[in-house]
Amino acid sequence: MLHVVVIGLGTISEMHLSAYEQNPNVQLYGVCDVNEERAERVAEKYSVKNVFTDATDVFNDANVQAVSICTWNKTHAQLAIQALEAGVNVLVEKPLAMSVEEAEQIQEAERTSKAMLQVGYVRRFSSNAQVLKQFIDRGELGEVYYAKASYIRRIGNPGGWFADRELSGGGPLIDLGVHLIDLCWYMMDRPAVQSVAGHSYHRLGNRSNIKNLSFYKAADYESSKNSVEDLANGLVTFENGASMQFDVSYSLHAKEDEVHIKLYGTKGGAELEPELIIVTESENTILNIQPQMDHPNFHFQSAFQNQIDGFVSAVLNEEVSPAPVEDGIELLKIIEKIYE
Ligand SMILES: NC(=O)c1ccc[n+]([C@@H]2O[C@H](COP(=O)([O-])OP(=O)(O)OC[C@H]3O[C@@H](n4cnc5c(N)ncnc54)[C@H](O)[C@@H]3O)[C@@H](O)[C@H]2O)c1
Repeated sequence: MLHVVVIGLGTISEMHLSAYEQNPNVQLYGVCDVNEERAERVAEKYSVKNVFTDATDVFNDANVQAVSICTWNKTHAQLAIQALEAGVNVLVEKPLAMSVEEAEQIQEAERTSKAMLQVGYVRRFSSNAQVLKQFIDRGELGEVYYAKASYIRRIGNPGGWFADRELSGGGPLIDLGVHLIDLCWYMMDRPAVQSVAGHSYHRLGNRSNIKNLSFYKAADYESSKNSVEDLANGLVTFENGASMQFDVSYSLHAKEDEVHIKLYGTKGGAELEPELIIVTESENTILNIQPQMDHPNFHFQSAFQNQIDGFVSAVLNEEVSPAPVEDGIELLKIIEKIYE
């Protein structure tokens, strides 16, 4: 049994806690949050015995073998390094850190640790992404040389720490963009980045005046502060000549929210979101193939279950991390350049 503690008990921690609860090789050993009342409430809900309010006490507890870090982005690097130095395995929520410099410090801590780290690229673990990856790995799309992705929210600034650049490192680019960029990059077989161009805008604010529409919020939602961009876009060129174009927003005068992920190869193409479709050609005819599956789009619960099961298996069987620290660094290089 792997003894796990979940650190940071806000909105996304629920996905981690319920997935650990379902894994037969895990004992939820403890929960930790600087907000004691929240920590007690979550401990009761999941029948967890050990309640921590200081992560240092988690790492000093010799029974702890692994942690999920689900805290504000600013704390990811410090907590991950402390964990690795204590020999505790880490699943850290995306983004890995707020800068390339921090991410490289994590890499160094992992290099000298007996423990491993996995970056929370949950979208890789969604069944639509896993099916498409198998098709791509078998060469069904040929060489994937172009990707185009959008994650547009009309109103969707989660407020609180997410909207405070000091604590988050940025807005929709570092928050939503990491998912899009990582998925496309992963499907393109992780090519080396040659150049990055992009824009970020801070024009509309958080549109917290809008009524009648609900949206994702930080556990401590507060709308008054907003020092992050509300729209960003980018064009990434890779050394192998492939390219990727994307845009992401928290606030935009768009007709509707949308998520699109499209990949184009020499033998075929694919749409991963809003629904998996594989495009190919046979008998001089274009075929749109629709794989039949329970979740043809990103499905939070099953993707988190697959991610947590993958992490637990990698730790227990000493396998290579399915989302290693290097992948977090490459992605932050792209993000940092766009903010620059
Ligand atoms: N994978 C996904 O799809 C996804 C979705 C949402 C959020 N996230 C990521 O998850 C992380 C948390 O996001 P959230 O929406 O749950 O935020 P949240 O504001 O709802 O919760 C964060 C919690 O962390 C606690 N916390 C902060 N610093 C701490 C520390 N040093 N020690 C212990 N507890 C601490 C806060 O008190 C709060 O309870 C972020 O990094 C975010 O980017 C990932």
